[in-house]
Amino acid sequence: MKRIKYLFIILASSGFALLVTPTFAATTSQEEAISRGEYVFHIGGCASCHTQDQPLAGGVELVTPFGVFIGPNISPDNQHGIGGWSNAQFIKAMREGVSPKGEHYYPAFPYTSYVNMLEQDLLDLKSYLDAQEPVSKSTLPHKLKFPYNQRTLLGIWKLLNTTNKWVPDPNQSAMWNRGGYLANGPSHCTQCHSPRNFIGGLQVEAGLVGNKQGPEGESVPPLLGVSEAGFGTWTKEDIAFSLEIGMTPEGDFLGGSMSHVLENTTGKMTTEDIEALATYLYLLNNP
Ligand code: HEC
Ligand code: HEC
Repeated sequence: MKRIKYLFIILASSGFALLVTPTFAATTSQEEAISRGEYVFHIGGCASCHTQDQPLAGGVELVTPFGVFIGPNISPDNQHGIGGWSNAQFIKAMREGVSPKGEHYYPAFPYTSYVNMLEQDLLDLKSYLDAQEPVSKSTLPHKLKFPYNQRTLLGIWKLLNTTNKWVPDPNQSAMWNRGGYLANGPSHCTQCHSPRNFIGGLQVEAGLVGNKQGPEGESVPPLLGVSEAGFGTWTKEDIAFSLEIGMTPEGDFLGGSMSHVLENTTGKMTTEDIEALATYLYLLNNP
């Protein structure tokens, strides 16, 4: 009798454990995914183009030589945002620039850099986005010049422009590789600091040599091949300081579109990630 009672207790408690443990583990791992995803949202600089007045509700205007793009609503609203998307649909949009309906996105959405994002980072980012407030607000259409307003032409554009795949270098340190991942992947420094061809295709293989015709028509300075003066003479600490505080060693404050990067991307990075970016940029110039 006693034995049966013990057996019952063991069964009951193990059953309890089975019932309780998985749900508990699921909640904590989900919360962890959301908080990791929030950080991915920052290093990806998503707010720069998708947050104007309300978080994730879009409406940011991006002035380019092809016309004005409007960052869309990416809140989890089912009608106006990206609510209800599967993980696979989200990853395809982020890496390939293809919508769930099979339409091509304009490369003003920097998927030509996000193609390099790790799957885990994208899944965490999706968990974070799913956990935000849905905003029921439609996005205004882009104001593009002909022929750029023909979305179907983007299929041809994609065939003509490479995907800018970045691969880690096993001969470099983990720090360098993290910096390379940030610059070429989520933090998309190449999008502005590398040149583009006449149809807006990113020429990443040219390196971070700057772009005289950057976003909003401004000139984006080179982060490579500047030996005589300027960036080429910056120490690793100078670079880190400029990315954290926005001030150059000459005491100038960085402005233009870089101010959005400082506010939404590098200004929200951990000290380790700032150091990784600084290491990568320093060693590119001082191998
Ligand atoms: C430089 C500006 C810019 C940045 C940075 C940016 N986006 Fe976008 N995004 C856009 C534009 C513009 C579009 C619309 C593209 C189109 O209409 O073809 C877009 C479209 C999207 C879409 C598709 C929305 C839909 O309704 O189909 C998703 C999802 C998205 N972005 C997520 C993100 C996430 C997540 C980040 C951060 C990791 C991010 N974007 C960063 C500009 C940007
Ligand atoms: C949206 C476009 C854009 C993106 C993305 C961008 N930058 Fe910049 N960056 C600029 C512009 C424009 C300037 C010039 C600012 C000025 O002169 O006030 C600049 C300046 C700089 C400078 C100062 C260089 C000098 O010689 O003064 C550094 C360093 C820099 N960027 C690093 C980065 C890094 C690292 C990233 C990625 C995390 C990045 N940038 C992403 C547009 C961009």
